[in-house]
Amino acid sequence: MKLAVIYDSKTGNTRQAAEWIAEGMNEVDGIEAQAFSISSVDEEFVKQSKGVVVGSPSYAAAMTPDLHGWLLNSGGKLGLAGKLGGAFATEQFTHGGGDMVIQFILTIEMVNGMLCYSGGGSCGNPCIHLGPVGVNNNQEKHNGMELYKDNFKVYGKRFADKASELF
Ligand SMILES: Cc1cc2nc3c(=O)[nH]c(=O)nc-3n(C[C@H](O)[C@H](O)[C@H](O)COP(=O)(O)O)c2cc1C
Repeated sequence: MKLAVIYDSKTGNTRQAAEWIAEGMNEVDGIEAQAFSISSVDEEFVKQSKGVVVGSPSYAAAMTPDLHGWLLNSGGKLGLAGKLGGAFATEQFTHGGGDMVIQFILTIEMVNGMLCYSGGGSCGNPCIHLGPVGVNNNQEKHNGMELYKDNFKVYGKRFADKASELF
């Protein structure tokens, strides 16, 4: 079963998160997951995918304008209705709006008729509430994204397990 992870990323943090999610998905038997930037989406792959996870950096506590435009234009074209949907975000600061980004992406996914899943509290620790958020903390001496690698991978695995169960 195919699963797609689609992201916008200007400086690489959200791309990295997307790749970790796809890595976690690919740990599940029978899953073929791929991550795509919105600038190079393999539309055939996405149409065949049973689940699509979408991610964005937080820009003023919102998704990027480019991702917003992409989501508004792509729902019908890619046949998102009925697919499993998920969302993730990266941000510079703790409380930098990642959860709000996720909430808005999930809202658009639901408007498109997707079935949204985060795992939430049902999978125990780490308890990923709406979706995983990576804080790069890039004003400090190191990029903090590595601290969130496991969360993104675990999320990907849980999402793929649920997709396998449903489809
Ligand atoms: C225009 C702009 C607005 C941003 N607004 C926020 C913000 O509100 N909160 C935050 O934590 N980080 C903010 N950031 C930082 C990015 O969300 C963060 O560095 C993110 O991980 C970048 O993702 P990318 O490397 O995939 O492009 C902003 C960055 C830009 C360029």
